[in-house]
Amino acid sequence: MSTLLHTETSTTGIATLTLANAERHNAFDDTLIVDLTRELERLDADPAVRVVVLAAAGKSFSAGADLGWMKRMASYSEAENLADAQKLAKLMHTLDTLSKPTVAAVQGPAYGGGVGLVACCDMVFAAPEALFALTEVKLGLIPAVISPYVVRKIGASHARRYFVSAERFDVQTAQRIGLVHDIAPRDEVLPLARSWAAQLLINGPESMREAKRLVFEVADRPICSELNQHCAERIARQRVSREGQEGLTAFLEKRPPNWVRH
Ligand code: COA
Repeated sequence: MSTLLHTETSTTGIATLTLANAERHNAFDDTLIVDLTRELERLDADPAVRVVVLAAAGKSFSAGADLGWMKRMASYSEAENLADAQKLAKLMHTLDTLSKPTVAAVQGPAYGGGVGLVACCDMVFAAPEALFALTEVKLGLIPAVISPYVVRKIGASHARRYFVSAERFDVQTAQRIGLVHDIAPRDEVLPLARSWAAQLLINGPESMREAKRLVFEVADRPICSELNQHCAERIARQRVSREGQEGLTAFLEKRPPNWVRH
């Protein structure tokens, strides 16, 4: 794995994946994007891992795309730029659709692609120091690859403002528009994220995976008979699943379900 990433997995299955390029404010270039994607895929495939905490070292959470790399890419062809941008698209998709819950501990500022990473996590805790900005248009760029995730998270109205203004917004604003769920002092953000991760170990791993998938399936869809039918089928399947049966039996027998780890 890259030296710019660090993963620590607890015996209970909480993996903390830390962006460790503090000197460059955790900006990511093509190599780091590929390494980060591979590491997320590895954690997703590892049955010992139940929850992924995404954290960062140093002052900033992430300064987004490495601007030196962006500048270098100008001398490449459009096809090469497309292939390159698709690597970032794969990273965002991988994080967004990870089958395990993802909890972000945002200890400092996040810009551009850094906001994209935050938007792709299920639960987000951030410090008062965590400023946010979609600065791309200041650099003559656009927040293209991250836009589906950011727009879905904060909505079109806020996205229109912050995409064109490129202004910095504070953690309270980020919380108000839905990018951040809770705010904690800087040195308590990672412990808070980990304590939430520990609480998620009480929930059924397969149920959480399916519940997360359900959000993707129903979000922004018109509520119609097909959707209602689909949701009824989803719960019917879940009730008879191994985990559904174990959860209901454990409740009625007044014992913890067999997936609980302490
Ligand atoms: N890509 C590449 N290098 C970056 C970077 C990025 N996105 N962000 C910061 N760095 C580098 C700086 O170039 C500097 O390198 P140097 O020491 O070789 O000069 C180093 O990180 C420290 O940055 P500096 O600007 O001196 O620190 P700061 O604390 O004053 O400011 C930031 C930190 C993150 C606010 C500022 O660097 C910044 O605005 N970066 C751009 C963020 C951005 O717009 N990202 C979106 C990209 S689409």
